[in-house]
Amino acid sequence: MNNSALGIFDSGVGGLTVVRAVQELLPAENIVYLGDTARVPYGSKSPETIRRFSDEDVRYLLTQQVKAIVVACNTATAHALPMLQERYQIPIVGVIEAGVEAVLADPEAQRVGIIATRGTIASHAYQHALAQRRTGMVIVEQATPLLVPLIEENWIEHPATRQVLDTYLQPLLEKQIDTLLLACTHYPLLVPILQEMIGDRVRIVDSASTCALHLQHELMRRAMLAEPERAGTLSIALTDLSDQFEVLAKRFLRKCPPHITRVEL
Ligand code: DGL
Repeated sequence: MNNSALGIFDSGVGGLTVVRAVQELLPAENIVYLGDTARVPYGSKSPETIRRFSDEDVRYLLTQQVKAIVVACNTATAHALPMLQERYQIPIVGVIEAGVEAVLADPEAQRVGIIATRGTIASHAYQHALAQRRTGMVIVEQATPLLVPLIEENWIEHPATRQVLDTYLQPLLEKQIDTLLLACTHYPLLVPILQEMIGDRVRIVDSASTCALHLQHELMRRAMLAEPERAGTLSIALTDLSDQFEVLAKRFLRKCPPHITRVEL
């Protein structure tokens, strides 16, 4: 048993979708969340910059005496996870491994579409991980940079979002995908509209809930879960504070966030 907090970080508040999933699955865990809102988005930055920012995020969480770290950001996982795991002793898990495992959990999955930020797509991290484990897979990658701003504007039901999704999904549907992997913190909010647009025959895998499951296995394997009979706490630190971030935090977390503090990295 280990009652120290888990550290979870993201480029902004989108990683709260992962926090929500972790809280649902592991309610006894204390969580320290860091969102680098002063420097969001990471999805359009260079790999070097993403690695530098991610390293600073981890260093901050280490000052909070966390027992393990979750890289909730897909872009940071794609570019920085191996470097972070090599550099630090503490267990660090990302979202990619979990998403890939969830896709492969269906033995029939053969044609996979991946949507993500430009940074994540450019890394081909998901594609490589999938292709290594199942031969003959058809993998179609699509950068979808307009989706994060549309979701942050709460335009989820807006016709403009449907139009954008239509354009983004077309090449994937032309390849007759059987699985759609949502490889970005924000996209779980699109699940209902996506499912409606692509139909029931395409399975949607989102990296937030699969990451929580992956984390649970990792903590169990290392005997690091918190004592079960307690209510875990959540603290949120952001590198920039604004009313907009509070509104977004509530939407991603699906409840009022606790008091948010501002921190310098
Ligand atoms: N958190 C990012 C991701 O999951 C999306 C937002 C950004 O570009 O920073 O890739």
